[in-house]
Amino acid sequence: MCPPNYLNHAIGMGEVTPTANDSLTQRFISSQLTGKIFLPERYHFHTTLDSTNREAMTLAHNGFPEGTVIVADQQTQGRGRYGRVWASPPGLNLYFSLLLRPPIAVCQASQLTLLAGLALVETVVGMGVGEALLKWPNDIMVNGRKLAGILAEMASDGERIRFMVIGVGVNVNGSATHFPAEIAQRAITMAEILHKELVRGLLLVEFLRLFEYWYLRYLQEGFAPIRQGWLAHSALLGRQVQVALPQGGMVGEAMNLDEDGFLLVKESNGIVSRVMAGDVALL
Ligand code: BTN
Repeated sequence: MCPPNYLNHAIGMGEVTPTANDSLTQRFISSQLTGKIFLPERYHFHTTLDSTNREAMTLAHNGFPEGTVIVADQQTQGRGRYGRVWASPPGLNLYFSLLLRPPIAVCQASQLTLLAGLALVETVVGMGVGEALLKWPNDIMVNGRKLAGILAEMASDGERIRFMVIGVGVNVNGSATHFPAEIAQRAITMAEILHKELVRGLLLVEFLRLFEYWYLRYLQEGFAPIRQGWLAHSALLGRQVQVALPQGGMVGEAMNLDEDGFLLVKESNGIVSRVMAGDVALL
């Protein structure tokens, strides 16, 4: 069941061995996609786009199928949450968007963002970044610095989702000094942690494999297994957090994720609030 006020709170290798620069191309990635949803013909690589989310939204409105993946080497207007800019220099990082047409209600959309976070944290942990943790709702953090972010956008028919676009940005190669000064302090790259450059295409293929695994389970079993996996990688539980909300803010202890995926925060007066959207900072 949906909470009554949800509408006001809706989310917010095979034969080919790639070199670092060609690992995102259609030729390489298509040779790696063996799943049921992210099919080779649904993979679209661009050298430059304004935003992979913007492109995926356009394709979605034009009827492209579930499993369409849009990747860009560089974005000129990468979008972050709350209208922020996502710095997207060429040749270094991963910027991509998935198009999904899940048979779920609008109020369940944030569960798919959490699912994407789970697949992403499992991907980076599997590639050696063992310290990576999830910060609700969608950031991957390492030692208090941001490694990756997720931006979900959607269109609905009444209470049902028509389509959802899940955009993912991962700081992979180079160092955070490639970002604007105000972000550099708060960001970190996989290469900085692992002291080596990574092949972006391999990261992407592994993410798509894990996302598909969890997505098919979600469609069969619902949110419970996703919630369990997500909690196992959470940076928040038991920690004091500050939640920035459109109508003000709150400080309290992050207690749990509820069965719908909302964050439960207990304030010092004992009141437990169900946080549906907002920015969370660890104190
Ligand atoms: C955040 O603010 O943490 C979310 C950042 C999401 C960035 C990704 S990069 C690929 C996709 N295209 C965009 O314009 N944004 C998302």
